[in-house]
Amino acid sequence: MSPTDKQQVYEAVSQRVEALIAGETDLIAIMATVACELHRAFDSFDWTGFYRVVAPGLLKIGPYQGTHGCLTIPFERGVCGAAARLRQTQVVPDVRQFPGYIACSSSSQSEIVIPVITPDGTLLAVLDIDSDRLAAFDEVDRMNLEKICAGIAAAYSGG
Ligand code: SME
Repeated sequence: MSPTDKQQVYEAVSQRVEALIAGETDLIAIMATVACELHRAFDSFDWTGFYRVVAPGLLKIGPYQGTHGCLTIPFERGVCGAAARLRQTQVVPDVRQFPGYIACSSSSQSEIVIPVITPDGTLLAVLDIDSDRLAAFDEVDRMNLEKICAGIAAAYSGG
């Protein structure tokens, strides 16, 4: 998929998500809707979902699409833990090269994880997307997914 085509798909997804979650402030309802819409939009997405911050330094599985994901991830572990700990998007072109990578599915080859942070700085969750293709994620993904995650946090915060 060319970067232009990818951008167009993200714009369509973002518009659908915005319409679907308008007025919704329940975080699980918002995350379930986003996971569903993103997962169906791209053939390259093999697992799409959220891990929620449920205690200091601890992530627990949230709404997702794909085969089952591990239930609990401490901030010290994996790509999800790194995104939560560093509060920064992690783009991993080859998961075998990432120290401490948690293999939930043997088909995963690359991964992107984006933190969901409220306008006042609270980390709510991370959005984790795995692909069965190497280097599936680029700057177009990062930019659009960060925008979607900012939208989730704003909707949850009532704005
Ligand atoms: N691979 C992730 C774990 C979650 S699953 O991929 C669904 C990680 O290393 O954090």
